[in-house]
Amino acid sequence: MITNEVVEPGKLERLAGLNNYADVNVAVDNLAVAKKIGEIARSQGIKQGVLVELDVRNKRCGRIPGKDAAEFVKEIENVRGIEFRGLMGYEGPFLDVPDFETRRAGASILLDKLADTVEMVERAGAQVEIVSAGSTGTYNIAGEHSIVTEVEAGSYVFMDSTYRKLKGLPFHCALTILATVISRPIPERVVVDVGWKTMTPEFGLGEVKDVEGAKFYHQSEEHGLIAVDSRNHLKVGDKIELIPSHCCTTVNLHDNFYAIRKGKVEAIWPIAGRGKSQ
Ligand SMILES: Cc1ncc(COP(=O)(O)O)c(C=O)c1O
Repeated sequence: MITNEVVEPGKLERLAGLNNYADVNVAVDNLAVAKKIGEIARSQGIKQGVLVELDVRNKRCGRIPGKDAAEFVKEIENVRGIEFRGLMGYEGPFLDVPDFETRRAGASILLDKLADTVEMVERAGAQVEIVSAGSTGTYNIAGEHSIVTEVEAGSYVFMDSTYRKLKGLPFHCALTILATVISRPIPERVVVDVGWKTMTPEFGLGEVKDVEGAKFYHQSEEHGLIAVDSRNHLKVGDKIELIPSHCCTTVNLHDNFYAIRKGKVEAIWPIAGRGKSQ
């Protein structure tokens, strides 16, 4: 499932080709694009599965839940080369609300909008095989909703310092950046080689793992500044681990994962998708 709109013809060719390796579905919200997807799929002898994205938050891509979406489904059902498989929503704004009950209440409103549209589409005669929703922050809310058949959670694999603050999530932070201390100009400041090129500041500064009292307080292109107690023993050349504020946009800055078990590197996994958004 590609939970995004793909519209560029070169990318659509590659999307169609992917069907030779896997059962791929993609989000759509535009008739001209749906026709283009169908045309390319036919030229490659396949049928492309699509899910109609609903903009349940009124914030990003997708059709307006309700009548607009139901009519759009009718239109794309007649497009040759594609197969309508279902609907997709995404409760983004509630994924990082710290309190679980508040998060559940907010996400449920959006999931109900998705459910109402599913009903409307089915009443109009279309078969809705997949209803996709959720994220790491709402995986257990979307997962419990009777209409949802598929949960789109991704970050739970690694977690990050933003998700770590949420109550009700059973996942632990597996992803850290291995930083090297490059300077200790004054006893209260440690400088590491982790700037924006290494760890995203997207959701704020990262956290220092297992160094008591240490606080990451500033980041620039190539430097990270950490406030420490003047008695802290860290010295130039020492290694420390940092937990990023957002795992997704940090992973995309690196070529490899170093998979560690019990302090030993057990595998090196290339990050094949990194830098491939062009
Ligand atoms: C549409 C959609 N679904 C699911 C996800 C996964 O969310 P998370 O990584 O927070 O679990 C994202 C993340 O950006 C998304 O944009």
